[in-house]
Amino acid sequence: MNIGTALTNSATKALLLGSGELGKELAIALQRYGVEVIAVDRYQNAPAQHVAHRSHVIDMTDGEAVKKLIALEQPDFIIPEIEAIATGALAEIEAAGGCTVVPNARAIALTMNRKGIRVLAAKHLKVPASAYAFAESFNELKAAVDKGIGYPCFVKPTMSSSGKGQSRVEFPDQLQAAWDYARSAGRVDTGEVIVEAAINFDFEITLLTVRALNAHGDVQTYFCEPIGHRQEHGDYRESWQPQGMTQAAIKASQEIAEKITSTIGGLGLFGVELFVKGDEVWFSEVSPRPHDTGMVTMVTQKQNEFDLHARAILGLPVDTCLSESGASAVILSGIDGHGVIYNGLAQALAVPASEIRLFGKPDAFVNRRMGVALATAATADEARIKAAIAANLIVIKPE
Ligand SMILES: Nc1ncnc2c1ncn2[C@@H]1O[C@H](COP(=O)(O)OP(=O)(O)OP(=O)(O)O)[C@@H](O)[C@H]1O
Ligand SMILES: [Mg+2]
Repeated sequence: MNIGTALTNSATKALLLGSGELGKELAIALQRYGVEVIAVDRYQNAPAQHVAHRSHVIDMTDGEAVKKLIALEQPDFIIPEIEAIATGALAEIEAAGGCTVVPNARAIALTMNRKGIRVLAAKHLKVPASAYAFAESFNELKAAVDKGIGYPCFVKPTMSSSGKGQSRVEFPDQLQAAWDYARSAGRVDTGEVIVEAAINFDFEITLLTVRALNAHGDVQTYFCEPIGHRQEHGDYRESWQPQGMTQAAIKASQEIAEKITSTIGGLGLFGVELFVKGDEVWFSEVSPRPHDTGMVTMVTQKQNEFDLHARAILGLPVDTCLSESGASAVILSGIDGHGVIYNGLAQALAVPASEIRLFGKPDAFVNRRMGVALATAATADEARIKAAIAANLIVIKPE
């Protein structure tokens, strides 16, 4: 792999579709290898745009707008960071040749809609997953639950992320509200919802899985140590690495991740979300890109998830080794406001072996993720306590 010189005719260019906090770290990782980075988002001054060579603001669900921008920038790599993207346009761009959609256009289309990836995983690859059904009306939803999914269950829009439009339903009288919420709060109204039986797991993990070239130039699958995490309202609050698990559960997790990522194909890092109970493992979903719970790797691995993604994409060797146990805790805003002030950084960083990342989002709103606290310690449990303390010491105030 040759790398050109950024900002000259020879530049190796990466265009990020989505410029949030994960894109910001990826932009930095790519720039360290000399790549020219172009950061795109639907609003100005998104986190990755603070550190990119150039940025653009477009509606990424508008296929024509995406194609026009790609024609203008002529990137070598198009790297989706979010799910809501005009996937048809990416498929056309990929078919035309000349640049790589990371990991490939089909992966972006498959994982944008829960139906695509769920049917691939459970029906075609036969990996263990919760019982599920799709419904286009409330009556269909009720029939599916009554006929086998049962209670408790989860009702979700087929296109959504970060828990939006999602409800856990314990009793029949809550089903109508769950249907209404899923239909109104999805990112795109597909006319359909998915209902899944609740898995009664001991814990859930993200298994960061990397498809990268090895020393022989062949694609090889590498795994990071499992990352445990805690979710609230479908959004992550804290994560830690490593999550202790039985050897059998690790083996089952890696087998599921290998099956899914090798079917998706391409080069890059994937976040495979799994539920674990004892030795048993169920597939939940997969992101063909760095995962929010994987931010913990910024302190636990020599090559964090952004370095790994950058290296894999560029055809460079990777090392997924854990160097220390650690944890992350999100810093959420308690207020709505523009240009907010962060108080307490010195106090937070006084927590031994801690780190803070402030994302620089121009607008805060209640419960928006504005930063993350990271910490290492002798054990993941100790690191969790430290990360939570550091996160709580950051106070977000109005301008
Ligand atoms: N079938 C299920 N059984 C048990 N728990 C579930 C199930 N589905 C979802 N959950 C819980 O809800 C969380 C969010 O679900 P899911 O990952 O499907 O949503 P999401 O909107 O894609 O979230 P994100 O984009 O943040 O990953 C899971 O991490 C898990 O804690
Ligand atoms: Mg998820």
